[in-house]
Amino acid sequence: MRSRSVDLLILGAGVAGVYAALAAETEGARVLLLSKDPLPSGSTPWAQGGVAFPLDDEDLEAHLQDTLRAGRGLVEEGVARSILEEAPRHLERLLAWGLPFHPEPTREGGHSRARVRHLGGDRSGLLLLRGLLARLQSPVREGHLAVSLLVEGKRVAGAWVLGPEGPVEVRAGAVLLATGGFGRLFPVTTNPPGATGDGMALAHRAGAVLRDLEFVQFHPTALPDGALVSEACRGEGAILLNALGERFMPRYDPLGELAPRDAVARAVFRERERTGGVFLDLRPIPRLEERFPTVVASARALGLDPLKEPIPVAPAAHYAMGGVKTDLRGFTGVEGLYAAGEVASTGLHGANRLASNSLLEGLVMGERAARAALESLSSPRAPEALPALTLDPSLLPELRRWMAREAGVVRRREGLEEALAFAEGLPLEEAPPDRATRPALEAGSLALLARLLLRMALLREESRGAHFREDFPREAQEAYHLEAQGFTLSRVP
Ligand code: SIN
Repeated sequence: MRSRSVDLLILGAGVAGVYAALAAETEGARVLLLSKDPLPSGSTPWAQGGVAFPLDDEDLEAHLQDTLRAGRGLVEEGVARSILEEAPRHLERLLAWGLPFHPEPTREGGHSRARVRHLGGDRSGLLLLRGLLARLQSPVREGHLAVSLLVEGKRVAGAWVLGPEGPVEVRAGAVLLATGGFGRLFPVTTNPPGATGDGMALAHRAGAVLRDLEFVQFHPTALPDGALVSEACRGEGAILLNALGERFMPRYDPLGELAPRDAVARAVFRERERTGGVFLDLRPIPRLEERFPTVVASARALGLDPLKEPIPVAPAAHYAMGGVKTDLRGFTGVEGLYAAGEVASTGLHGANRLASNSLLEGLVMGERAARAALESLSSPRAPEALPALTLDPSLLPELRRWMAREAGVVRRREGLEEALAFAEGLPLEEAPPDRATRPALEAGSLALLARLLLRMALLREESRGAHFREDFPREAQEAYHLEAQGFTLSRVP
């Protein structure tokens, strides 16, 4: 088997992974970046809205308050403040690098001001990522999937990787997970096919803490195939209508179409149930095709014409607020293992992420995690690969049906229990890394996360942010996190 050694191994080449690599290579580190799919990969190129940057010092406080309000008591204020305080430095750098941010910021749900900076109309993530990749010197290997982590004692020391030419053992002074979320646990999602929670599963098996997995953000406006219709459309005048042609959002929330995302997703869910459908009227947006080219193209691909009529929309799984618990430097608590971006749970998003805070977090935390990892490098001598976790992928469609039915926008005890019984009955297997295939690994990661998510959703007997329990419709007085280490769940204030 081939083997190689690097200082920092980065898994995942979305915004957090690539920005981390850029930070590490300027320190002179030997970096290797792995991407499961061809570049530009990950969820970043699918992001439409943009990056939320505070407009100035005064707006930093307002941005912080918006983030806290959206997160429903679970945002860690110190974490959010420190990420927002660093935002202007990154914007300045990106502008100096020539990234084509539109000069006029736009507005999205939950934001009290227009502070979201977009690129290329609604191609924000794609152009951001292309701009970062263009500056990268370090090697990026496409089609390479980490099957399991290498460990030496209690320390993570690299990964056992499956590439197009066979397996490679990559020994590393530290590993940085930037593998994104797990939207593909649900049948309808705005996420790309690779969003299968691989990094969360790898971290869990290496002893890291996973937290708040029950908080899955459902984007309120996706097309029937899951294609995203950016929240910025509502920020710029689009209106939600039910099947009776009535505008309904003002009845649900005084902020109307620009209420926080969890509130809009629940209202869309209810109105679809009550009237049989919900539609988004994009016609109030001036120069629609120029401003939202991706949205218009996605609608046309389904035979819809948003310039002529309202288009059908529904909530779709969009973002994991929870993930691998890290500190403010991206450290997971397991020596040698760092995480940044959607895979991580820093405390910025709480129970409901504020729109466009995620690309910002990817930038700030990508850089911090890379720097922290470089300060802690070890030289692995004889690391061993952990077993791979696999599942027969033909079982995934049924798991996804359970998740959609019982762990979606609205949840209740009986349904969660039934879904959990199904998930716990799945024959997850530990396999030697050389026996694992990509489909079986992805299915294994999703099944593990489903079990943990469902257990957390059952334990959380309240409704908060993105987690809505019909049988416990109120928020508990005290906010708490749920953490899993192994299969032990604990409640943490
Ligand atoms: C969107 O464009 O609506 C997505 C933005 C986000 O998820 O932050």
